[in-house]
Amino acid sequence: MEKQHKKGRLHAIERIRALLDKDSFVEIYSGVRHNCSEFGMDKKEIPYDGVITGFGTINGRQVAVYSQDFTLQGGSLGFLHGRKIADIIEAAVNARCPLIGINDSGGARIQEGVNALAGYGEIFYNNVLASGYIPQISIIAGSCAGGAVYSPGITDFVFTVKSLSLLFVTGAKVVKAAVNTDITDEELGGAEVHAEKSGVAHFLAENEKDCFSTVRRLLDFIPHYYGDKMNQTRNDSRIIPWNKSNFSKSKLKKITEILPEKQNRCYDVHEIIDCLTDDGEFLEVHAGFARNIVTGFARIAGVVTGIIANQSDHLGGVLDCDASDKAARFIRYCDAFDIQLLTLTDVPGFLPGPQEEQKGIIRHGAKLIYAYAEATVPKVTVILRKAYGGAYIAMCSRHLKADFVFAWESSEIAVMGAEGAVQILYGKDLKSGSMEFEEKKEEYRKSFMNPWTAAKAGNISEVIKPEETRGKIEAAFAFLADKKDTGKIRKKHGNIPL
Ligand code: HXC
Repeated sequence: MEKQHKKGRLHAIERIRALLDKDSFVEIYSGVRHNCSEFGMDKKEIPYDGVITGFGTINGRQVAVYSQDFTLQGGSLGFLHGRKIADIIEAAVNARCPLIGINDSGGARIQEGVNALAGYGEIFYNNVLASGYIPQISIIAGSCAGGAVYSPGITDFVFTVKSLSLLFVTGAKVVKAAVNTDITDEELGGAEVHAEKSGVAHFLAENEKDCFSTVRRLLDFIPHYYGDKMNQTRNDSRIIPWNKSNFSKSKLKKITEILPEKQNRCYDVHEIIDCLTDDGEFLEVHAGFARNIVTGFARIAGVVTGIIANQSDHLGGVLDCDASDKAARFIRYCDAFDIQLLTLTDVPGFLPGPQEEQKGIIRHGAKLIYAYAEATVPKVTVILRKAYGGAYIAMCSRHLKADFVFAWESSEIAVMGAEGAVQILYGKDLKSGSMEFEEKKEEYRKSFMNPWTAAKAGNISEVIKPEETRGKIEAAFAFLADKKDTGKIRKKHGNIPL
């Protein structure tokens, strides 16, 4: 404990105690010891083989947990250490409760050779079996290298902590030796790198305590196993008419004032989310990564809802590779655990240009389309402002089987913006001077840059006023509460473009 405290860190057991409800932790397999005799290991006693496993409660509900002890051989993973983790994952699956892993490990225990790799293999296999059945949460509470990164990589939510978490396949020293590049461990796999650039981390905490309290908050939102209805109950069993709801009057007014007068000005979509959700409570997932799209959990009439919203304030809310990946993974998580989806659309399109094309915007954008189309949970979309081209389709349009699509009166649903369209349609005439650019733009705007053309074609369920939005989406989700998708064709599984 002293070793950890000197570094300003909690010990493995203190972490469990800080995370779980007071006095609820029950340890299992504490008597396990390694049986390796190579490299002088026969003389090394490693209590509980370096990882504490067991179960307890968070907010009064069962969870399974493991916590690696860095003070014991660097938290390195030997065969029995690995088996203990694989066992606790299996126990969590059988008990149908979330699994939380507190990771602090230098990777495969080098002295145990291939036996250590076998330990990892069992963990990865069980992570995959558990995926979509129970939520799996990884906290990166120290230096995690080598095999220690792939179990978190498979799990649903990864938490990093500022100035504490390091996560890389190989550390800076190996990078120098292998590819002769000078880089620090922090630059290679620090908390911010994963929360903002790689997208490996979904949450970035200020310190360990902040991290544990966010995990507890997350568990308050999400179902604890596939089929769990605990967080899916409406506030009121009566359905109140949408325009009679006593939802905050000030928020109904505020929502009318958020969009800037000019179409090309930006705004923060969090303000809209705040106006639509119960108590404005929103737990954002992947807040620092691909900020042009916002994903997170909120409640609508008490029912947990996954929200996906284009963020006008960052790159105008354009869809790029990272935003598509981020949203697709979130949608699939929600669909796996029966969490209804609310999509807020204001998107100028997929980001054009060589950088994104070469990075594979086609492959990444396809994931978003696939995830929305595949999701069978209740899906409600609100088009706030722009919905252009492929991005209009991709952001849970009626064509991808949104149950209802509402569009604000001032929204624009079109193949592309007026400027681009006029250039393409009348390029030659504009060059020769036989046509007036502004005039043609106005003509195009009148014909297409509104929601009515799409509404007439039956592609919009209803054109609405901003202040009607909360009432309409609440009513729509209440209507869909018992939705059962019957349209699936029988097959083994689809082939999502990974
Ligand atoms: C055995 C290990 C170990 C390991 C650390 N230790 N990693 N022992 N196997 N993998 C031991 C150290 O010998 C030391 O023992 C103690 O743990 C603390 O380590 P330090 O290096 O002193 O700590 P620190 O300076 O904080 O550095 C932490 C670290 C570094 C960045 C994690 O230890 C490190 O780079 N470790 C190796 C990382 C790595 O390359 N792992 C890949 C393994 S291969 P004493 O007795 O001195 O206290 C792998 C492949 C699996 O994982 C692939 C599956 C897909």
